[in-house]
Amino acid sequence: MVTDEKTLVDALRGLGCNAAVWGHAELSHRDPGFDERNFGASALVRPADTAAVAALVKFCADNNVSLVPQGGRTGLTGAATSHVGQIICDLGAMNRIEEIDPFARVAIVQAGTTLATLQNAALADGLDPGIDLAARGSCTIGGMVSTNAGGIMAFRNGTMRHRILGLEAVLPDGRIFSDLTRVLKTSAGYDLKHLFVGAEGTLGIVTRVAMRLDPVAGASATALVGINDAAAAQRLVRHFLGQTGTSLRAAEIMWRGFAVAMNKMLGFAPGQLPLDAPCLLVLELGADTVDAATTALEEGLAALWEEAGIVDGLVATSLQQARAIWRLREETELIERIHKLPPSFDVSVPGGNLDAYVCAIEAGLKSIDPSYAPYVFGHLADGNLHISINCDGPLPHDRHLAIEDVLYVGLAESGGSFSAEHGVGLDKREAYERHVDPVKRELASAIKALLDPRDLLNPGKIFSPSV
Ligand code: LAC
Ligand code: ZN
Repeated sequence: MVTDEKTLVDALRGLGCNAAVWGHAELSHRDPGFDERNFGASALVRPADTAAVAALVKFCADNNVSLVPQGGRTGLTGAATSHVGQIICDLGAMNRIEEIDPFARVAIVQAGTTLATLQNAALADGLDPGIDLAARGSCTIGGMVSTNAGGIMAFRNGTMRHRILGLEAVLPDGRIFSDLTRVLKTSAGYDLKHLFVGAEGTLGIVTRVAMRLDPVAGASATALVGINDAAAAQRLVRHFLGQTGTSLRAAEIMWRGFAVAMNKMLGFAPGQLPLDAPCLLVLELGADTVDAATTALEEGLAALWEEAGIVDGLVATSLQQARAIWRLREETELIERIHKLPPSFDVSVPGGNLDAYVCAIEAGLKSIDPSYAPYVFGHLADGNLHISINCDGPLPHDRHLAIEDVLYVGLAESGGSFSAEHGVGLDKREAYERHVDPVKRELASAIKALLDPRDLLNPGKIFSPSV
């Protein structure tokens, strides 16, 4: 049993495995990433290979110390937070792309590889991992597996669960689960790799991943379109999805309050982007050339202008303009400069009910507090909305529950989800208990108890401590 921090750090250094070790004092000088609570642990270990991760896990099992896996530290629900007495397993040194097979369209990557690194490497072969999100420069493949990340292209390519072919993970007892299958078709019994997808590091530490790659269009064009509601945006999406010779790569929606606040925080000149509409839609269309993509966007918008009730529109004519449109949508951390820790939510709304849902939550929130006017934006084409309340957090518990009731009640029954792509982590545990089917939760707890009976891996995440 290791009692104090110095003994712990010395013992970790003495393990002799291929890993760097930092103590708590060193951690306190470093950037903890999105969540201030990430670096609370007594030590951080940065293994360079799977064997070193396994040695660390065995050390933790032998000494009854719990371990918190971390990737890019961009998570939004506190799944990577740690506290004194715990050790962080930082996958950042396992950042190599081991192989890209351009013919089989498969990449074998270490878990600490950032998404942008994989995107750039695959692009050299005209390929793409088929998944993209705003945190691409920092988020890691292992973290994305662990939260089942979705992002911008999930509506056409699926989420991380659908992009992986195989994975390797270190189990809580130090054994290595090795399933680096690299074919799409395998139906050889239970497909256990999926247990680790969305498990948020509670069942094992993902160390290597086999990912599918897709051919990518040679060029793209971006538009910002002002419309009256999400139904109009869905009409546009249907058109561009059905078009041959182009591929719709993004359909991101912003309700006006979010777009105007972002525009202000970005310091864009008035009129630089057309924002005078109830909803704004960012469309990105891929084609063989920029001209072909631009023309297809312009012609499609012109053809649907009246039918979809388009209010205004801008097809970017320069990379700079396209970049400005994307900054408006993606630099969402700017909302955190307007409000301190604003309560934020991440829901999946099924089948075309977005307008009714947004109307209902706006009214429901106003009935809790007339000053509430949520920022709403998200991934239109798969129904994933991000909602931040225009106030400082954290809120008193009963107020928070009242807001959750407005946002979550009825979602599961209608086939949606209270957690679309950000996971459960620490912050959504109560929602998990209140809104996930009890049989599903019982099975999940039984699987956790089977794989990690001593609760060594990321304890207190997803499941409430009482579970
Ligand atoms: C996004 C993150 C918040 O879509 O999921 O920008
Ligand atoms: Zn998102």
